[in-house]
Amino acid sequence: MTSPNAELTAWIAEVRKQFPALDVQVNGKALVYLDSAASAQTPMPVIEAMDDYYRSKRSNIHRGVHFLSQEASEAYEAVRPQAASFLGASDPDEIVFVRGTTEGLNLLAYGLGERALQPGDEVVVSEMEHHANFVPWQRACHLTGATLRVIGMDDRGVLDLERAAEVIGPRTKVVALSHVSNALGTVNPVAEVARLAHEHGAVVVVDAAQSVPHMPVDVTELGCDALVFSGHKLFGPTGIGVLWARRELLEAMPPYQVGGGMIQEVTAEKTTWADLPMKFEAGTPAIAEVIGLGAAMKFVLDLGWENIQAAEHAVFAYAKEQLDALPFVKAIGSAPSQIGVYSFEIEGVPAYDLGTMLDQRGVAVRTGHHCAQPTMRRFGVDATTRASFAFYNTFEEVDALVAGLKRVHRLFG
Ligand code: ALA
Repeated sequence: MTSPNAELTAWIAEVRKQFPALDVQVNGKALVYLDSAASAQTPMPVIEAMDDYYRSKRSNIHRGVHFLSQEASEAYEAVRPQAASFLGASDPDEIVFVRGTTEGLNLLAYGLGERALQPGDEVVVSEMEHHANFVPWQRACHLTGATLRVIGMDDRGVLDLERAAEVIGPRTKVVALSHVSNALGTVNPVAEVARLAHEHGAVVVVDAAQSVPHMPVDVTELGCDALVFSGHKLFGPTGIGVLWARRELLEAMPPYQVGGGMIQEVTAEKTTWADLPMKFEAGTPAIAEVIGLGAAMKFVLDLGWENIQAAEHAVFAYAKEQLDALPFVKAIGSAPSQIGVYSFEIEGVPAYDLGTMLDQRGVAVRTGHHCAQPTMRRFGVDATTRASFAFYNTFEEVDALVAGLKRVHRLFG
C-alpha cells in the first residue's frame, strides 16, 4: 500500500503556499481542487509577472519606438526562446503563440488539412482524442474529400498499436495524436507512432495539452513535426498557448489569420507575408498572457521535474489504490501508463449529481463527456466523473474525495 510520505507532504505544503486559489473556502469547506486537467491553478510568480506588465510595461508590442513598447516587446519576445527550450526545440522562430491548444490545432488542421489535402489522402487520429484534435481534422477531411481514420484502444484505454500499423500507410498525410488522454490519463507511445508515420512520409501532430503539466516534453524525443499546448493547464494564464512546428512545415503552410503584424508588404494587388513566426501572429497578441506563460514555465522548471513527479506520482498512486478499492467505483481507463487523471462512474449515480454532491463538500471534480465523446462511446458511457491531479494535491485531499464518494454511495445505496 502507498502511504503518505512525510517528506513529500512537507514539499507539497510548501509549494501550495504559492497558489492563493488553493486556500479558497467552498460551501464552508476547504477547497479540494481535483480539476487541474481542465485548468490548473496559478502560482504567485505568474500573477506577479502579469501584474507587473499591467503596472509598469503596459503598451502594445513590436510597433512602438517608445520606451514602454520596447520594454513590453522585450518581455514578450523573451518567452519565445524560453518556450522553444521548454520543448527541446532549437529554433525560437518555430514557436507561434496561439490562444490555446484548440486554436493551435485548428491552425494546423487548416494549413496541413483544409489547404493541403486531396481526395484519396488520409488523416489518422485516435479514438481517445479531445474534440479539439478530432473535429478540426474531421472537418478538413469533409471539406477536401480526404478520409479520416480512427485508431481504437483496448478496454484499459491503451492505444491499439497493431491497428495503428495497419491504418497508417502510404495514403496517410497527417497523424494527429494526444500525448496524454484528457478523459483517461493514458500516456500514448507518441515516438512509436511517429516512427510508423514517418515510414510513410506523414506529418505527426501532437496534442500535448495534458502532458506538459506532468512531464518534460521534448519534441526531438517524441519525433513529432508539430506540437501544441495550453498555458492554463501549465499553471499559467488562460487565453494563451504554444504551437511548435518544424520550420519547413510553418514555411509551407499559409497563414491562418491575416491582418496587422503578419505582413511584409500590402498593395492593392497582393500581400506578402512576414517571416516566421510573425506570419502566424496576426493582430495584437495576448501580451500579458505570454509574459505570464513565461513565468509559469520558469516556475515549473525551478520546482524541478524530479520533485514534481515524485510528489505527483505518490499522491496519484495513493488515489488509485484508494479509489480502486471502493467496490462501487468503476474506473474508466486503467492503462499502465496512466497519469494525472482518474475517470470513473458509480452505478446508479449520474455523474452530474455526483459532482454536485462532492462540490457541497468542497471537492471540485469534472463531470461530463470531457469533450471526448468518441472515448465515452468506446466505454459505453455518456459521461464520467474525473478527478485530476497536479503536484500541489495532497494525500488528505484524496482522503476527502474518498470520504465524499462513500457518503454519496451511502445516500444512493
Ligand atoms: N480540455 C479540458 C478538459 O479536459 C477543458 O477538461
